[in-house]
Amino acid sequence: MIKTKRHIRIRSTGVYLPDRVLTNADLEKMVDTSDEWITTRTGIKERRMASKEQVTSDLAVNAARMALERGGLKAEDIDLILVATNTPDTIFPATACWVQKKLGIKETPAFDLEAGCTGLLYALIVAEGLILSGTARRILLIGVDILTKITNWEDRGTCVLFGDGAGAFILEESDDESGLISHFWGADGSLAELLILPGGGTLYPASEDTVKKKLHYLSMKGNEVFKHAVKRMGEAALEALKQAGIEKEQVDYLIPHQANLRIIDATGERLNLPKEKIVVSIHKYGNMSVATIPVALHELAEEGKLQKGQIIVMVAFGAGFTWASAVYRW
Ligand code: ACO
Repeated sequence: MIKTKRHIRIRSTGVYLPDRVLTNADLEKMVDTSDEWITTRTGIKERRMASKEQVTSDLAVNAARMALERGGLKAEDIDLILVATNTPDTIFPATACWVQKKLGIKETPAFDLEAGCTGLLYALIVAEGLILSGTARRILLIGVDILTKITNWEDRGTCVLFGDGAGAFILEESDDESGLISHFWGADGSLAELLILPGGGTLYPASEDTVKKKLHYLSMKGNEVFKHAVKRMGEAALEALKQAGIEKEQVDYLIPHQANLRIIDATGERLNLPKEKIVVSIHKYGNMSVATIPVALHELAEEGKLQKGQIIVMVAFGAGFTWASAVYRW
C-alpha cells in the first residue's frame, strides 16, 4: 500500500492496576448506598485502590515498564515523557519528572498535561504534533490517576464512582497506513465549576478553612455532568469519523471513557453500534479518569481481539469541561 499521509502509531501498550479491590459490598459498609443503586445507575461492580504508600508516579512507572518491555525498548529509547493526570504526586514538579527519575532516564524532556478525564486523548493529539513536526521521535505517554486519594468518602454521590490505575502507550511515527487518522477536541470553561477540585491551588490556597470545608476533595454535580457528557461524547465521536472520511458502519470498536455505563451506551447508540463493538470495563475498574481508555485498549489487544486495519474510535469527556475523540487504524 502506498503511504499517503503521515500518522503516529501506538508501538506498544502497558498497564498497571493496584491489587486492592473495593467492591460495592465494601461501599455498602462505608456509606448509605447499595450494590443495586451503584450497578443500575453506573454499571460499576468493583474498582481498584492504590495503597497508602503508592503515589501516582509509582502506578505510571509500572505501566511504562510494561509498555517498554512489550515494545522491545529500553528507557533510553524514549525522547519525551508525557503524563496525563488529574492527581499528580505534587503540584510541582510534574509527575512526568518523578517518572523520569524512577525510570532512570537522564535529561529527557518531561511534562504533565491536565485535561480532566479527556487528558489521554488531549495528550495523544499533542504527541502527534510533536512527532510529526520532528520535535520528538518516540514518546512515552502515560494516562494515570489515583482518584481514591481525592475522594470525599462521606459523599455517596461521588465515592462509589472512582478507581485507580495507569495505562501507557509508546508512540512513534507509523511506517504504514496504521495509526491515528483523525481527531477532534474542545472545551467549555464556563461550566468548570460543575466538576472541580477547588482547594490547594491559587483560588483556595490550602488552609485550615479549606480543609474544614472539604475543598481538597473532588466535587461534582453528577446529573449536570451526565447530560453534557452524553451530548459531547456522541458529537465528538461523529465529528472525528467525519474528518476521517469513515462511516459509522466501518467502526470495529468504540472505546469510550468509562464514567458511567449509561453514558457509554448512549454514545454507542449515536454511532448505531451493536453491543459487541463497544468496549466496557467500568464494571471491574470504575472511573479511573485518564487511565480508562489506555487500559481498555491494552486489554482489547491482549485478548487478541484486534486485527490489523481495524478501525477504533476513542472518545472522552471530563472536567473543564473538555472533550475529545480520535479515530485510529490498528
Ligand atoms: N447510593 C444511593 N443513592 C444515591 C447515591 C448512592 N451512591 N448517590 C446519589 N444517590 C441518590 C441521590 O441522593 C438522589 O436522591 P434524591 O432523589 O432522594 O435526591 C438520587 O440518588 C439521584 O441522584 P442523581 O445524582 O440525580 O443520580 P444520577 O442518576 O444522576 O446518577 C451519577 C449519579 C452516577 C453520578 C451520574 O450522574 C453520573 O454518572 N454522572 C456523570 C459522571 C461523569 O461523567 N463524570 C465525568 C468524568 S469524572 C472526572 O473528570 C474525574
